[in-house]
Amino acid sequence: MNPPAMLETPRLRLRPPVVEDAAAIFDAYTQDAQVARYTTWSPHRSLDETRNFLEQHCVAGRKAGNMFSWLITMSEGGPAAGMIDFRLTACRAEVGYVLAQRYWGHGLMTEAAGAVVEWVIAQPEIHRVWATVDLENVASQRVLEKVGMVREGMLRRWVLFPNLGPVPRDVWSFARIKETGTRS
Ligand SMILES: CC(C)(COP(=O)(O)OP(=O)(O)OC[C@H]1O[C@@H](n2cnc3c(N)ncnc32)[C@H](O)[C@@H]1OP(=O)(O)O)[C@@H](O)C(=O)NCCC(=O)NCCS
Repeated sequence: MNPPAMLETPRLRLRPPVVEDAAAIFDAYTQDAQVARYTTWSPHRSLDETRNFLEQHCVAGRKAGNMFSWLITMSEGGPAAGMIDFRLTACRAEVGYVLAQRYWGHGLMTEAAGAVVEWVIAQPEIHRVWATVDLENVASQRVLEKVGMVREGMLRRWVLFPNLGPVPRDVWSFARIKETGTRS
C-alpha cells in the first residue's frame, strides 16, 4: 500500500511526521495529561520520549508498511495541531488520532479523519476501517460516527489505558465496511 504523503482538507494539511517535529509535538500535546487521558500512552515527560515515538512508530511504521501516520497542521501553517494514523492487519485498517487541546471543538478531527477514512476504504485490499474508543470518550465516538462508522458493539476488557488504571477497560468497537452488494 502506498498512501499519499500529503492529504489536504478545506482547513488542514496532513503530512508524514519527521523526527524534527518532536519539539513542536511535545509542546502541543504529548506532555498534556488531558489529551493522553483516553490514549494507550502516558503523557511524555521529556522530549526524548516524543522523539522515540516518532522514530520507532511513525517513521519505522511507514518504512515497514504497516502503520501510516500524518501530522495535522492548519492549512495556513502554524505548529503541530495533532496526529492521525492507521495500522494495517490483513484486510483491516485501524484508525487512531489525537488533537492538541487548543484545537478541540471545531470539527477539525472530523475533517482529518474523514479524509483518511475515505482514502483507506477506497483501497481495493481494505474491507474494514475501524477504531476502538473508551465508553466515556464521547467526543471521539461522535467523530467516528461523523466519518461514517457504526457502533458495532462492546469489547470487554479490551484496552489498557495506562492513565485510567491497571485493568483493561471496556471499549466500543466502531467500523465502516466496504459494501460489496452481496451478503455472505
Ligand atoms: C476526540 C478528539 C479527537 C475530538 O476532536 P475534535 O476536533 O474536537 O472533534 P470534532 O469537533 O470534529 O467533533 C467532536 C464531536 O463531539 C462532540 N463532543 C465534544 N465533547 C463532548 C462531550 N463531552 N460529550 C458529548 N459530545 C461531545 C462535539 O459536539 C462534536 O459533535 P457534533 O459535531 O455533533 O457537535 C479530541 O477531543 C482529542 O484529541 N481528544 C484526546 C485524544 C483522544 O481521545 N483521541 C481518541 C482516542 S479513541
